[in-house]
Amino acid sequence: MTENSEEIPGLPARRAALDLLTAALARRAGMEEATSTPGFAALSPRDRGFAHALVLASLRHLGPIDRALEGKLKKAPPERVLNILRLGMAQAFVLGAPAYAAVSASVDLVGDSGATRNFKGLVNAVLRGFTREPPDFSEPETFAPPWLFARWQAAYGRDAALAMAREIANEPATDLTPRDPSAVPEPELEAEVLAGGTWRTALRGDVSAWPGFSEGLWWVQDASAAVAVRLLDLKPGQTCLDLCAAPGGKTLQMAASGARVVAVDRSAARLKRVAANLERMTLSAEIIASDAAQWRDGREFDAVLLDAPCSATGTYRRNPDVLWAARPGDIAALAEVQAHMLDSASRRVRPGGVLVYCVCSLEPEEGEAQILTFLKRTPDMERVPILPGEGGAPEISRLASGDLRILPHHRAGGTDGFFVARFRRTAE
Ligand SMILES: C[S@@+](CC[C@H](N)C(=O)[O-])C[C@H]1O[C@@H](n2cnc3c(N)ncnc32)[C@H](O)[C@@H]1O
Repeated sequence: MTENSEEIPGLPARRAALDLLTAALARRAGMEEATSTPGFAALSPRDRGFAHALVLASLRHLGPIDRALEGKLKKAPPERVLNILRLGMAQAFVLGAPAYAAVSASVDLVGDSGATRNFKGLVNAVLRGFTREPPDFSEPETFAPPWLFARWQAAYGRDAALAMAREIANEPATDLTPRDPSAVPEPELEAEVLAGGTWRTALRGDVSAWPGFSEGLWWVQDASAAVAVRLLDLKPGQTCLDLCAAPGGKTLQMAASGARVVAVDRSAARLKRVAANLERMTLSAEIIASDAAQWRDGREFDAVLLDAPCSATGTYRRNPDVLWAARPGDIAALAEVQAHMLDSASRRVRPGGVLVYCVCSLEPEEGEAQILTFLKRTPDMERVPILPGEGGAPEISRLASGDLRILPHHRAGGTDGFFVARFRRTAE
């Protein structure tokens, strides 16, 4: 939970929050798209910050907020009104705004024109009702969408599913990867050094103002995301292919190890971020805009990483929208895409070279099941089991197969969920 805010910013910030929440719930990556619009960029930094924080607070508590609202609403109101109610609840009961201020801000947001103008009375009455009987945030299970909770319970057991759901409301700390793995964090970063060498800081706000940013001493990367590249054990001069590279956290790790890196992503816009990140760190890589399943130029690599597009459910601590925008059908569709990409990635590995596959998904179809079928149809690839603690992965994440299934509660303070597997191409 964040600090108490006595004051609620003006209507433009709250309208922006409403647009963000609507986009976040409508489609995958909707929140990212909505924060990249010129309209959002035109807001003051304070209004942008408020809108973003309010929407994240709403999404991190959406399960219990919706349950509480369902109990009070006789029938579902139009979506715009429902989203105004959700934001009002988050203002009052998560961000700690005075209830009267949250109620009047929400009524203002309904407005005097448009199809929903007649819902002012309902918004006022429903939100006021909660000031006497606040929503219940005590049951972890209610924080996850029921279909995802049921999947996690089936895959990992009830205790693990509850522990995963408990992480949903928590604002994550920021993890940094140092360019030089032997460097010691600046004291002003107040960072703890995690297994594997990630620095974890509780600092908040603009990372570009933190010590070491402009000097290119570190970049932001979740501790789990940093594991996969360490498992490639790259040596200076080796060749390495980074498939699905943008925004480039793993490309930076590869380049910092002294490897000669080719970074492929189909999004030219996102590749600009890879180039900017490399420039800040004074590192280099060959950048190629292409579909990873199609790209080939005859080269074979010592090491290949496939960080495949996935449901991204493991990133819910930072991107709680993934929980609510995901649809059951997405998982099977993404698993099919990943299978094509794995086949293509495996053909880019030289005999004796290494392939690491990873996804920031919590869903077995994109991880364990994906690898089973890949190994069956790819006789020249053998699994190279990941050793206990290798790459800084929590030991509890290591499966009997030697793959990693990192769950968000596997590290104190939380971590992104990832599946990681490593293979070697047998010599022909
Ligand atoms: C999980 S992110 C990769 C994160 C990145 N490896 C990092 O560490 O910063 C997935 C990326 O896959 C890219 N992508 C999705 N489908 C693709 C495809 N068919 N070919 C190449 N890239 C693709 C997206 O543009 C996105 O940048």
